[in-house]
Amino acid sequence: MNRTLTIIKPDAFGSGKAGRIIAHLEGAGFRVVAARVMHLTTSQAQEFYGVHRERPFYGSLVSFMTSGQCMPMVLERADAVAELRRVIGATDPAQAEEGTVRRLYAESKERNAIHASDSDDNAARESRFFFAETELIANA
Ligand code: CMP
Repeated sequence: MNRTLTIIKPDAFGSGKAGRIIAHLEGAGFRVVAARVMHLTTSQAQEFYGVHRERPFYGSLVSFMTSGQCMPMVLERADAVAELRRVIGATDPAQAEEGTVRRLYAESKERNAIHASDSDDNAARESRFFFAETELIANA
């Protein structure tokens, strides 16, 4: 078993899709270890997406991620990082496979419903960004 970090983004949370997305993830074998509903500040979004600072879409991404509430969650299952990326599909919903979370629920390449960590190291870093160590060991 290992863990990854996901965020149900403001487009999906604000349009009432969080429940269906969580059910989809649980149906794919993920267990929710930690979860919260929050409204990111600009500095939190800038820091979380700091790796994209030089990209042309950075400002717009930060605006979108601070446009409403979102739902960060730590998920657990075997091969969690790779499996979650497979289950959510490509960044652009138009390119995402049939039946993936983004194909089902995302609006566009930016407003793409859900985030998933891209490596075990980033999963650990991103989980600590949102959750205290005590929240993460509670279900270990
Ligand atoms: P995410 O998996 O959270 O990681 C970075 C985010 O930037 C991505 O999902 C999208 O929301 C956004 N993104 C990536 N590429 C583009 C793009 N070309 N145009 C707009 N937004 C993008």
